[in-house]
Amino acid sequence: MDEHVCPWWLAYTFDNRLRSLFHNPEELLGEYVKPGDTVVDIGAGMGFFSIAMARMVGEAGTVIAVDIQSKMLSVLQERARRNGFEQRIRLHQCRENSLGLTEPVDFALAFWMVHEVPDPGNLLRSVYAILKPSAFFFYTEPRIHVSRSRFEHIVGIAQSAGLKPVTRPPVSLSRAMVFKP
Ligand SMILES: C[S@@+](CC[C@H](N)C(=O)[O-])C[C@H]1O[C@@H](n2cnc3c(N)ncnc32)[C@H](O)[C@@H]1O
Repeated sequence: MDEHVCPWWLAYTFDNRLRSLFHNPEELLGEYVKPGDTVVDIGAGMGFFSIAMARMVGEAGTVIAVDIQSKMLSVLQERARRNGFEQRIRLHQCRENSLGLTEPVDFALAFWMVHEVPDPGNLLRSVYAILKPSAFFFYTEPRIHVSRSRFEHIVGIAQSAGLKPVTRPPVSLSRAMVFKP
């Protein structure tokens, strides 16, 4: 595993009950995620946002939870089972620089993960390729790991991949941008 990738055990430090105090998925994503949508959670980790989005898309919707680490996906699978969302959450283990997905989606999330990817351009092009014309892509990075200039550099890479910046939503402890294809 690449040394920049968050080890699975470290995910427990931010993916826990306390996190809801500063990251409220419904408040952050409610404007973009609707019942019946197909959404993708890229670098889903243990599923803090996948589980919340499964609630938001409802019975008719689908969450594709993508991660490079099988251990993250196995913890996520167990959480999905405990929450009764096994049928709504599809797990997908991807490769380092490509999602390996072709299904069009209504919404894509990359929360605190692009800085772990060696070639963000490849990843962002594969995000662009699956967005429906009406879709949004919500991108955030942790301030502690990603400087303003690095963030703006990645926003520039996203624009080269075809993504158009729409708004900079306020997200605690983070830098964030929402894009459209
Ligand atoms: C800091 S964690 C964030 C997890 C989750 N998004 C959250 O906010 O709770 C970053 C996640 O991205 C995953 N990741 C790192 N590189 C990746 C890649 N190239 N493709 C997919 N996932 C990746 C890691 O395995 C880890 O689960």
